[in-house]
Amino acid sequence: MIVSFVQTKGGTGKSTLALNTAFSQQINSKFRSIALVELDPQGSLKNWWIQREEEGLASGKVSFHHISSTQKEVFQNSIKTIAAHNELIIMDIPGESTGKLHTRFACASSDLVIIPMRTSTNDELAFADNLYPIIREITNIAPKKRKTFYVLPSFIHPQSNTGNVIGYFTDILPSHVECMEVVYPHRSVYENFNRDGMNLKEYALSVEQNKRFSYQASRAVADIEEISKNITFLLETNNGGPKKKKKTR
Ligand SMILES: Nc1ncnc2c1ncn2[C@@H]1O[C@H](COP(=O)(O)OP(=O)(O)O)[C@@H](O)[C@H]1O
Ligand SMILES: [Mg+2]
Repeated sequence: MIVSFVQTKGGTGKSTLALNTAFSQQINSKFRSIALVELDPQGSLKNWWIQREEEGLASGKVSFHHISSTQKEVFQNSIKTIAAHNELIIMDIPGESTGKLHTRFACASSDLVIIPMRTSTNDELAFADNLYPIIREITNIAPKKRKTFYVLPSFIHPQSNTGNVIGYFTDILPSHVECMEVVYPHRSVYENFNRDGMNLKEYALSVEQNKRFSYQASRAVADIEEISKNITFLLETNNGGPKKKKKTR
């Protein structure tokens, strides 16, 4: 199965979410092998992974793959190979201004596409102008793709009423795009957990002795577990994955 984090706009949390969900307890308890795949030629996760290896951090079931090619055939074939060896692929898709080759590929090939989006006019316009046309095209051609696209309200103030935020998105989203039942809060810990190649859980352990940092980190770990729980739920129930095929109508 393939889960992608997609948003043509940069800086919406895609890479942060991709790496931390890949290491979440929720996902690790449900899948035997998890491939974290970066399709961004810039390779920000790649640099982070190299640091992980240098620090000797153990990654358990999670493997990392960087695909730098911008040729569709090349990344398509690479994903095929990775899929043959991994139960779950989590793809980090770059924000793209032109062409949107990676975005199209991710939207067409994923079982679940997660679109991190702020409650900002900028993000909403970028979605309407760049990403939604691709989603509309795909859901028109392939109706079974209609339960694939989910917005994750992102950078939400931790004190916000999450029900209101989700309701806001549910109201403005077009057909075949739904809102997840969870939000991704704004926390400063997301800006610095990844030093020395750490993931959020490892960072939380490293600051265990500091009450204030530790509290912030544990809140963030809980956010990621909630988001990951929603992801596994959507994979199990919504998408034509193995579980759904058992149902006969
Ligand atoms: N929930 C969050 N709260 C605060 N800052 C965040 C959060 N998630 C990510 N960030 C920061 O925002 C920036 C963009 O995040 P990143 O995951 O690289 O986005 P993208 O991959 O969409 O470009 C980074 O500096 C990251 O540390
Ligand atoms: Mg990124």
